Amino acid sequence: MNKKIGIIGCGNMGEALINGFLSSSLVSAEGLFGCEANQAKAKDISQKYKIDMTKDIAELVKISDVVIIAVKPQIVPQVLADISKDINDSKLIISIAAGVTIKTIEAALGEARIVKVMPNTPVLVKKGMSAICLGEHANDKDKELAVQLFLCVGEVVVIEESLMDAATGINGSGPAYFFYLMEKLIDAAQEHGLSKEDARRLVVQTALGSAMLVSQTDEEPVTLRQKVTSRGGTTEAATGVFEKAAVGKIVKDAITAAVKRSKSLSGG
Ligand SMILES: NC(=O)c1ccc[n+]([C@@H]2O[C@H](COP(=O)([O-])OP(=O)(O)OC[C@H]3O[C@@H](n4cnc5c(N)ncnc54)[C@H](OP(=O)(O)O)[C@@H]3O)[C@@H](O)[C@H]2O)c1
Repeated sequence: MNKKIGIIGCGNMGEALINGFLSSSLVSAEGLFGCEANQAKAKDISQKYKIDMTKDIAELVKISDVVIIAVKPQIVPQVLADISKDINDSKLIISIAAGVTIKTIEAALGEARIVKVMPNTPVLVKKGMSAICLGEHANDKDKELAVQLFLCVGEVVVIEESLMDAATGINGSGPAYFFYLMEKLIDAAQEHGLSKEDARRLVVQTALGSAMLVSQTDEEPVTLRQKVTSRGGTTEAATGVFEKAAVGKIVKDAITAAVKRSKSLSGG
Protein backbone atom coordinates (compact mmCIF):
# COMPACT_ATOMS: atom_id res chain seq x y z
CA MET A 1 0.00 0.00 0.00
CA ASN A 2 1.41 3.41 -0.89
CA LYS A 3 -0.52 5.26 1.84
CA LYS A 4 1.18 6.50 4.96
CA ILE A 5 -0.60 5.39 8.12
CA GLY A 6 -0.31 7.25 11.44
CA ILE A 7 -1.59 5.72 14.67
CA ILE A 8 -2.41 7.99 17.61
CA GLY A 9 -2.26 5.90 20.80
CA CYS A 10 -0.16 2.74 20.64
CA GLY A 11 -1.57 0.87 23.65
CA ASN A 12 -3.27 -2.54 23.45
CA MET A 13 -5.28 -1.87 20.31
CA GLY A 14 -2.82 0.46 18.59
CA GLU A 15 0.02 -2.02 19.01
CA ALA A 16 -2.18 -4.89 17.80
CA LEU A 17 -2.88 -2.89 14.63
CA ILE A 18 0.82 -2.10 14.11
CA ASN A 19 1.65 -5.79 14.52
CA GLY A 20 -1.16 -6.89 12.18
CA PHE A 21 -0.41 -4.33 9.46
CA LEU A 22 3.30 -5.13 9.40
CA SER A 23 2.93 -8.89 9.50
CA SER A 24 0.43 -8.82 6.63
CA SER A 25 2.97 -6.83 4.56
CA LEU A 26 0.13 -4.51 3.55
CA VAL A 27 1.97 -1.64 5.18
CA SER A 28 5.75 -1.29 5.38
CA ALA A 29 7.56 -0.07 8.50
CA GLU A 30 8.58 3.02 6.49
CA GLY A 31 4.92 3.81 5.83
CA LEU A 32 3.76 3.44 9.43
CA PHE A 33 4.08 6.07 12.18
CA GLY A 34 3.03 6.13 15.79
CA CYS A 35 2.30 8.81 18.35
CA GLU A 36 2.24 7.62 21.95
CA ALA A 37 2.02 9.62 25.19
CA ASN A 38 3.71 6.96 27.29
CA GLN A 39 7.40 7.37 26.43
CA ALA A 40 8.50 3.94 27.70
CA LYS A 41 5.79 2.38 25.51
CA ALA A 42 6.81 4.56 22.54
CA LYS A 43 10.45 3.43 22.86
CA ASP A 44 9.40 -0.20 23.14
CA ILE A 45 7.18 0.02 20.02
CA SER A 46 9.86 1.77 17.99
CA GLN A 47 12.45 -0.88 18.92
CA LYS A 48 10.11 -3.82 18.42
CA TYR A 49 8.56 -2.80 15.08
CA LYS A 50 11.23 -0.42 13.71
CA ILE A 51 8.68 2.30 13.01
CA ASP A 52 9.07 6.03 13.58
CA MET A 53 7.40 7.30 16.73
CA THR A 54 6.76 10.96 17.37
CA LYS A 55 5.58 12.95 20.37
CA ASP A 56 4.28 15.62 18.03
CA ILE A 57 0.71 14.77 17.04
CA ALA A 58 0.58 17.56 14.41
CA GLU A 59 3.69 16.17 12.73
CA LEU A 60 2.12 12.70 12.60
CA VAL A 61 -1.04 14.06 10.99
CA LYS A 62 0.95 16.09 8.45
CA ILE A 63 2.87 13.04 7.18
CA SER A 64 -0.07 10.58 7.26
CA ASP A 65 -2.68 9.87 4.59
CA VAL A 66 -4.65 7.77 7.07
CA VAL A 67 -4.86 8.78 10.74
CA ILE A 68 -6.04 6.10 13.15
CA ILE A 69 -7.30 7.35 16.52
CA ALA A 70 -6.68 4.60 19.09
CA VAL A 71 -6.66 6.47 22.40
CA LYS A 72 -9.19 5.95 25.20
CA PRO A 73 -12.57 7.61 24.47
CA GLN A 74 -12.11 10.29 27.16
CA ILE A 75 -8.86 11.43 25.46
CA VAL A 76 -10.49 11.73 22.01
CA PRO A 77 -11.80 15.34 22.41
CA GLN A 78 -8.26 16.55 23.19
CA VAL A 79 -6.79 14.59 20.27
CA LEU A 80 -9.44 16.01 17.90
CA ALA A 81 -8.67 19.54 19.10
CA ASP A 82 -4.93 18.90 18.59
CA ILE A 83 -5.29 17.56 15.04
CA SER A 84 -8.18 19.65 13.67
CA LYS A 85 -6.09 22.36 12.01
CA ASP A 86 -4.04 19.78 10.04
CA ILE A 87 -7.00 17.76 8.78
CA ASN A 88 -8.10 18.31 5.18
CA ASP A 89 -9.99 16.23 2.64
CA SER A 90 -6.81 14.44 1.52
CA LYS A 91 -6.79 12.56 4.83
CA LEU A 92 -8.86 9.63 6.01
CA ILE A 93 -9.62 9.51 9.75
CA ILE A 94 -10.31 6.11 11.29
CA SER A 95 -11.51 6.08 14.89
CA ILE A 96 -11.70 2.93 16.99
CA ALA A 97 -12.76 4.78 20.16
CA ALA A 98 -15.83 3.15 21.69
CA GLY A 99 -18.84 5.44 22.12
CA VAL A 100 -17.42 8.31 20.04
CA THR A 101 -19.83 8.97 17.18
CA ILE A 102 -18.98 10.16 13.68
CA LYS A 103 -21.07 13.26 14.45
CA THR A 104 -18.81 14.10 17.41
CA ILE A 105 -15.72 13.71 15.23
CA GLU A 106 -17.27 15.78 12.43
CA ALA A 107 -18.18 18.51 14.93
CA ALA A 108 -14.47 18.82 15.73
CA LEU A 109 -12.97 18.19 12.28
CA GLY A 110 -15.60 19.53 9.89
CA GLU A 111 -16.34 17.77 6.61
CA ALA A 112 -13.66 15.13 7.08
CA ARG A 113 -13.56 11.61 5.60
CA ILE A 114 -14.30 9.52 8.66
CA VAL A 115 -14.57 5.79 9.24
CA LYS A 116 -15.55 4.41 12.60
CA VAL A 117 -14.49 0.91 13.61
CA MET A 118 -15.49 -1.29 16.53
CA PRO A 119 -12.85 -4.00 16.79
CA ASN A 120 -12.46 -6.49 19.67
CA THR A 121 -9.56 -7.82 21.73
CA PRO A 122 -8.88 -10.94 19.62
CA VAL A 123 -7.22 -8.48 17.18
CA LEU A 124 -4.27 -9.06 19.53
CA VAL A 125 -3.92 -12.54 17.98
CA LYS A 126 -5.18 -11.46 14.51
CA LYS A 127 -8.52 -13.18 15.11
CA GLY A 128 -10.49 -9.99 15.73
CA MET A 129 -13.97 -9.13 14.52
CA SER A 130 -14.35 -5.52 13.47
CA ALA A 131 -17.55 -3.70 12.57
CA ILE A 132 -16.97 -0.74 10.27
CA CYS A 133 -19.22 2.18 9.32
CA LEU A 134 -18.66 5.20 7.12
CA GLY A 135 -19.17 8.88 7.72
CA GLU A 136 -21.02 11.01 5.20
CA HIS A 137 -17.84 12.23 3.49
CA ALA A 138 -16.03 8.89 3.31
CA ASN A 139 -16.07 7.25 -0.12
CA ASP A 140 -15.93 3.70 -1.49
CA LYS A 141 -12.14 3.78 -1.65
CA ASP A 142 -12.05 4.74 2.04
CA LYS A 143 -14.31 1.80 2.81
CA GLU A 144 -12.06 -0.56 0.82
CA LEU A 145 -8.96 0.75 2.56
CA ALA A 146 -10.47 0.43 6.05
CA VAL A 147 -11.66 -3.10 5.26
CA GLN A 148 -8.19 -4.06 3.96
CA LEU A 149 -6.50 -2.65 7.06
CA PHE A 150 -8.77 -4.39 9.55
CA LEU A 151 -8.61 -7.68 7.63
CA CYS A 152 -4.96 -7.71 8.77
CA VAL A 153 -6.21 -8.39 12.31
CA GLY A 154 -9.22 -10.64 11.65
CA GLU A 155 -12.61 -10.41 9.97
CA VAL A 156 -14.66 -7.35 9.04
CA VAL A 157 -18.33 -6.43 8.52
CA VAL A 158 -19.47 -3.10 7.07
CA ILE A 159 -22.70 -1.80 8.65
CA GLU A 160 -24.66 1.42 9.11
CA GLU A 161 -23.63 3.62 12.03
CA SER A 162 -27.12 3.16 13.52
CA LEU A 163 -26.19 -0.51 14.10
CA MET A 164 -22.85 0.16 15.78
CA ASP A 165 -24.33 0.00 19.31
CA ALA A 166 -25.78 -3.42 18.49
CA ALA A 167 -22.41 -4.54 17.11
CA THR A 168 -20.68 -3.20 20.22
CA GLY A 169 -22.93 -5.40 22.36
CA ILE A 170 -22.06 -8.44 20.24
CA ASN A 171 -18.49 -8.28 18.91
CA GLY A 172 -17.04 -5.49 21.07
CA SER A 173 -18.06 -6.95 24.43
CA GLY A 174 -18.53 -10.47 23.03
CA PRO A 175 -15.12 -11.89 23.92
CA ALA A 176 -15.97 -11.28 27.60
CA TYR A 177 -19.15 -13.37 27.27
CA PHE A 178 -17.19 -16.32 25.94
CA PHE A 179 -14.46 -15.80 28.58
CA TYR A 180 -17.20 -15.78 31.23
CA LEU A 181 -18.58 -19.09 30.02
CA MET A 182 -15.08 -20.54 29.80
CA GLU A 183 -14.34 -19.33 33.33
CA LYS A 184 -17.44 -21.08 34.66
CA LEU A 185 -16.70 -24.27 32.70
CA ILE A 186 -13.14 -24.37 34.06
CA ASP A 187 -14.48 -23.93 37.63
CA ALA A 188 -17.06 -26.68 37.11
CA ALA A 189 -14.49 -29.05 35.63
CA GLN A 190 -12.28 -28.57 38.68
CA GLU A 191 -15.21 -29.20 41.01
CA HIS A 192 -15.54 -32.55 39.29
CA GLY A 193 -11.91 -33.44 40.04
CA LEU A 194 -9.95 -32.26 37.00
CA SER A 195 -6.73 -30.34 37.55
CA LYS A 196 -6.78 -26.64 36.72
CA GLU A 197 -4.40 -27.23 33.82
CA ASP A 198 -6.42 -30.09 32.33
CA ALA A 199 -9.68 -28.18 32.89
CA ARG A 200 -8.26 -25.17 31.01
CA ARG A 201 -7.03 -27.33 28.12
CA LEU A 202 -10.34 -29.18 27.81
CA VAL A 203 -12.34 -25.93 27.84
CA VAL A 204 -10.11 -23.83 25.59
CA GLN A 205 -9.75 -26.46 22.88
CA THR A 206 -13.47 -27.26 23.01
CA ALA A 207 -14.28 -23.57 22.54
CA LEU A 208 -11.75 -23.20 19.73
CA GLY A 209 -12.89 -26.38 17.98
CA SER A 210 -16.56 -25.47 18.28
CA ALA A 211 -15.98 -21.98 16.84
CA MET A 212 -13.93 -23.45 13.98
CA LEU A 213 -16.60 -26.07 13.27
CA VAL A 214 -19.27 -23.38 12.99
CA SER A 215 -17.06 -21.16 10.85
CA GLN A 216 -15.91 -23.93 8.50
CA THR A 217 -19.26 -25.58 7.78
CA ASP A 218 -22.49 -24.17 6.40
CA GLU A 219 -24.43 -25.56 9.33
CA GLU A 220 -26.10 -23.35 11.88
CA PRO A 221 -25.05 -23.57 15.55
CA VAL A 222 -28.47 -25.03 16.38
CA THR A 223 -27.93 -27.93 13.93
CA LEU A 224 -24.45 -28.63 15.24
CA ARG A 225 -25.81 -28.56 18.79
CA GLN A 226 -28.56 -31.04 17.88
CA LYS A 227 -25.94 -33.35 16.38
CA VAL A 228 -24.12 -33.52 19.72
CA THR A 229 -27.34 -34.06 21.64
CA SER A 230 -28.61 -37.62 21.76
CA ARG A 231 -31.89 -38.36 23.49
CA GLY A 232 -31.38 -39.13 27.17
CA GLY A 233 -27.63 -38.43 26.93
CA THR A 234 -25.21 -36.19 28.81
CA THR A 235 -25.58 -33.13 26.54
CA GLU A 236 -29.35 -33.21 26.87
CA ALA A 237 -28.97 -33.43 30.65
CA ALA A 238 -26.90 -30.22 30.60
CA THR A 239 -28.87 -28.27 28.01
CA GLY A 240 -32.07 -29.21 29.86
CA VAL A 241 -30.68 -27.28 32.84
CA PHE A 242 -29.97 -24.30 30.56
CA GLU A 243 -33.51 -24.40 29.19
CA LYS A 244 -35.06 -24.66 32.66
CA ALA A 245 -33.07 -21.61 33.78
CA ALA A 246 -34.16 -19.74 30.61
CA VAL A 247 -30.54 -19.06 29.61
CA GLY A 248 -31.76 -17.93 26.17
CA LYS A 249 -33.73 -15.09 27.76
CA ILE A 250 -30.85 -14.24 30.10
CA VAL A 251 -28.52 -13.91 27.08
CA LYS A 252 -31.03 -11.68 25.25
CA ASP A 253 -31.45 -9.48 28.33
CA ALA A 254 -27.68 -9.23 28.74
CA ILE A 255 -27.21 -8.11 25.13
CA THR A 256 -30.05 -5.60 25.48
CA ALA A 257 -28.27 -4.16 28.55
CA ALA A 258 -24.97 -3.89 26.63
CA VAL A 259 -26.60 -2.25 23.59
CA LYS A 260 -28.49 0.18 25.84
CA ARG A 261 -25.28 1.07 27.66
CA SER A 262 -23.46 1.59 24.36
CA LYS A 263 -26.26 3.91 23.21
CA SER A 264 -26.09 5.95 26.38
CA LEU A 265 -22.26 6.19 26.19
CA SER A 266 -22.49 7.42 22.60
CA GLY A 267 -25.13 9.95 23.61
CA GLY A 268 -27.97 8.19 21.77
N1 LIG B 1 -10.04 -3.05 24.30
C1 LIG B 1 -11.13 -3.33 23.58
O1 LIG B 1 -11.76 -4.37 23.66
C2 LIG B 1 -11.61 -2.33 22.58
C3 LIG B 1 -12.57 -2.71 21.66
C4 LIG B 1 -12.99 -1.78 20.74
C5 LIG B 1 -12.49 -0.49 20.77
N2 LIG B 1 -11.57 -0.15 21.70
C6 LIG B 1 -11.08 1.22 21.73
O2 LIG B 1 -9.70 1.26 21.47
C7 LIG B 1 -9.17 2.44 22.05
C8 LIG B 1 -7.85 2.12 22.70
O3 LIG B 1 -8.03 1.17 23.73
P1 LIG B 1 -6.77 0.46 24.38
O4 LIG B 1 -7.31 -0.64 25.22
O5 LIG B 1 -5.76 0.15 23.34
O6 LIG B 1 -6.21 1.67 25.31
P2 LIG B 1 -4.75 1.86 25.92
O7 LIG B 1 -4.07 0.53 26.05
O8 LIG B 1 -4.89 2.73 27.12
O9 LIG B 1 -3.98 2.65 24.76
C9 LIG B 1 -4.09 4.02 24.52
C10 LIG B 1 -2.69 4.61 24.51
O10 LIG B 1 -2.76 5.96 24.07
C11 LIG B 1 -1.86 6.72 24.84
N3 LIG B 1 -2.26 8.13 24.80
C12 LIG B 1 -3.05 8.84 25.66
N4 LIG B 1 -3.19 10.11 25.25
C13 LIG B 1 -2.48 10.22 24.09
C14 LIG B 1 -2.26 11.29 23.19
N5 LIG B 1 -2.80 12.48 23.38
N6 LIG B 1 -1.47 11.05 22.13
C15 LIG B 1 -0.94 9.83 21.92
N7 LIG B 1 -1.11 8.77 22.74
C16 LIG B 1 -1.88 8.97 23.81
C17 LIG B 1 -1.97 6.12 26.22
O11 LIG B 1 -0.86 6.49 27.01
P3 LIG B 1 -1.07 6.63 28.63
O12 LIG B 1 -1.38 5.25 29.10
O13 LIG B 1 0.22 7.18 29.10
O14 LIG B 1 -2.24 7.56 28.81
C18 LIG B 1 -2.00 4.62 25.90
O15 LIG B 1 -0.72 4.07 25.79
C19 LIG B 1 -10.22 2.96 23.03
O16 LIG B 1 -10.82 4.13 22.52
C20 LIG B 1 -11.24 1.86 23.10
O17 LIG B 1 -12.57 2.35 23.26
C21 LIG B 1 -11.10 -1.05 22.59
